[in-house]
Amino acid sequence: MTGDREQFQDAPIGVFDSGVGGLTVAREIMRQIPNEKIVYFGDTARVPYGSKSRDTVTRYSRQIVRFLQAQKVKAIVVACNTASAYALDELEREIDIPILGVVKPGAKVAAESTGNGKIGVIGTEGTINSRIYATYIKQIDEGIEVIGKACPLLVPLVEEGLLKDPVTDEIAMRYLSELKDLDIDTLILGCTHYPLIRSTIGRIMGERVTLVNPAYETARELKELLKAEGLLNQKEMGLGENKYRFFVSDSAEKFKQFATSILKYGILSAKIVNIEDY
Ligand code: DGL
Repeated sequence: MTGDREQFQDAPIGVFDSGVGGLTVAREIMRQIPNEKIVYFGDTARVPYGSKSRDTVTRYSRQIVRFLQAQKVKAIVVACNTASAYALDELEREIDIPILGVVKPGAKVAAESTGNGKIGVIGTEGTINSRIYATYIKQIDEGIEVIGKACPLLVPLVEEGLLKDPVTDEIAMRYLSELKDLDIDTLILGCTHYPLIRSTIGRIMGERVTLVNPAYETARELKELLKAEGLLNQKEMGLGENKYRFFVSDSAEKFKQFATSILKYGILSAKIVNIEDY
């Protein structure tokens, strides 16, 4: 094996989201491929993406990809459904390293999981209006019915850390009551912020509805992709100083506290990046 290849295998994976939601995907990557380094970027200055236009989300995503490439990542995970829905196809054409979104893996698991052929999807306005989940699911099985519901207020509630709060329960109940009456047996958590309030959503939907978190399948597909491309890190990696690095566009301290609570270990730092420079 050449030194170059080894160096490339040792490079980090870039993961990005509009804020803290993508940490649910990063956490899954850390679990399933523990030898990989990660550079995480949370666009905390410009969150939420869900109510912004395709052009804006694509411009933001492009800047973040440029930043991650400057960090010499070997692959990128778009850990945001809205950016996956709006920008992934263009980004894929523009860069020459592997890039993976969360929507396709989530759609695949949901199609496999449904018994009655009725799947609900909750997400941002952008993700739901794009009908991207329905498009992918119908490529797998034309007969499956996909019912989308935008839940825009859930992202700010999560970003504020109101994960177990009566206000979040009340808002989630309002959004989900419509879906409860439609006999779905599978519900896709189509926004990377939502797994953080999974227990609330599960309680409201009841035991008969399977909740799909696309993060698990995304990490699994990432592992397969790295393996196929000969890019898996071969070295054993402990939790050293440079293994996981975090960058944000604003409010680094708040992000640091949040990340520490989700990842269950103290993150050393979150550095602010002026993302408009990229
Ligand atoms: N977590 C993101 C998603 O998966 C975006 C939330 C937002 O910024 O609106 O869609």
